[in-house]
Amino acid sequence: MKRMLIVALFVGLLLALLPMTASAQGTVACDDEVVVVKDDWLAKFADKYFGNPYAWPAIMAWHNKAAQADPSKFPDKIINADLIEVGWTVCIPSTEDADAFLATYDPAKPEMLYAAGASGQLVVGSWWTAGGEAEGLNGMFSIYKTRYPDVEIVNATVAGGAGTNFKAVLKTRLIGGDPPDTFQLHAGLEAEGYSPETYLTPLDDLYASEGLEQAFPPDLLTLLKAYGDHYWGVPVNIHRSNVLWYNKAIFEANNLTPPATWEEFVTVADALKAAGITPFVLGTKDGWEAGHIFEDVLAGTLGAEKYNGLWTGATPWSDPGVTQALENFKMMLSYANTDHSAHTWDSAGEFLIAGSGGMMIMGDWTDGWFTSKGFTGYGWAPPPGTRGIFVALSDSFAMPANAPNETNAMNWLKVCGSLEGQEAFNPQKGSICARTDCNPALFNAYLQSAMVDWGQDAIVASVAHGAAAYESWATDYKDVLTLFVASGDVAAAQAGLQQACVDAGICQ
Ligand code: GAL
Repeated sequence: MKRMLIVALFVGLLLALLPMTASAQGTVACDDEVVVVKDDWLAKFADKYFGNPYAWPAIMAWHNKAAQADPSKFPDKIINADLIEVGWTVCIPSTEDADAFLATYDPAKPEMLYAAGASGQLVVGSWWTAGGEAEGLNGMFSIYKTRYPDVEIVNATVAGGAGTNFKAVLKTRLIGGDPPDTFQLHAGLEAEGYSPETYLTPLDDLYASEGLEQAFPPDLLTLLKAYGDHYWGVPVNIHRSNVLWYNKAIFEANNLTPPATWEEFVTVADALKAAGITPFVLGTKDGWEAGHIFEDVLAGTLGAEKYNGLWTGATPWSDPGVTQALENFKMMLSYANTDHSAHTWDSAGEFLIAGSGGMMIMGDWTDGWFTSKGFTGYGWAPPPGTRGIFVALSDSFAMPANAPNETNAMNWLKVCGSLEGQEAFNPQKGSICARTDCNPALFNAYLQSAMVDWGQDAIVASVAHGAAAYESWATDYKDVLTLFVASGDVAAAQAGLQQACVDAGICQ
């Protein structure tokens, strides 16, 4: 008796739960269900229910959503708006649901009419785990979620600045036939490292259908097509490599202004040292940071034109300017925290926030990071010698040749290229939009200054972040700099840099 009661209670509980389960799976509510008769068409329904024949896309999209959620009730999806068959039952949305759909509907995105493809997963690979980076990425995820609510986004990050760890993982996944649906790729020659002809999808058609060539500046388009004359990624931003960040309170208290020359750097660093503050904060843990700073030192010592020549063979690596740049870098290192090999770019940045460090050179993702930490006491300036030079890089998203969820990935790339996506991403990421039509009022003072500089400075390509050189050359270059930080041997480093250029096939 007792046992029967328990069974009855259990069944009752199950029955009570059933409708909840169905709605949790995304049942779509129809305001009306209409059976198609001869001479019906969607515009006629739209006119009848909403007083507007042009509202037909709302019915098509809603019905297809209902058909996807409950195929036994609505077995027929509307594939062609002009073709609904007699006897079909069409799910009509409420006026509010129709209006909500029409408010975001873009006729250039016909996929919005078909629920097909807008479910399943989207696996997004990147190395954005630090403050600012992660928030920016989430901003784009939110936009994607509003457009494709049924898609599950898998945030497949691998921590490690500049992609040090991510790139290796990605390569293994690409080669093993197990790629994510889309992944972070620097605009420029970095694409070569992934054998794009075999492993990536050229995005030229997407650029054409989305009008992306009109959305981005010509310099960036050139960079995006640098490998093989195809677009391999959709850019989400433009970052600046050469920024000197400083703690404003410390500079004010010691009556200092950011150094514009190498001599001034020494004066400022000595003053900070005398005040008991680490003059130059540095993290070299991930093996790319020294290469990053040195590209800015090279640009600041050689000037834009000669810096560019290093990557084309026009400036020999034996140039005395390179010797001088190594000497300048060595001088900076002599003012750095001695435990730099235990720090990443962001953990080193904590010294600056805490007021125990004075200056740091790092890309402008630092602006996003400071913001995410609620730190506002930072100033910025071009590192010595680089006023008027913008060392640039750009993050894009690419699509593997055999992306498991191709439609979802394509939709992601559209979000990446869209104004809405870029305005959600960049103010948090600490970068400026790749698009030219973002609203500057959404950005903080630093980023607004970066927009102005991008418009007027000499633009040169970053090597530490995939723009200036093939991945193998960039890796050799970074390895030389890592050794140099430990040894301080200028001659050996210069010979190593020269050899890397020879190995890359650019120098004799
Ligand atoms: C760069 C990347 C930036 C930022 C930085 C630190 O390579 O372009 O977006 O993430 O690494 O991780």
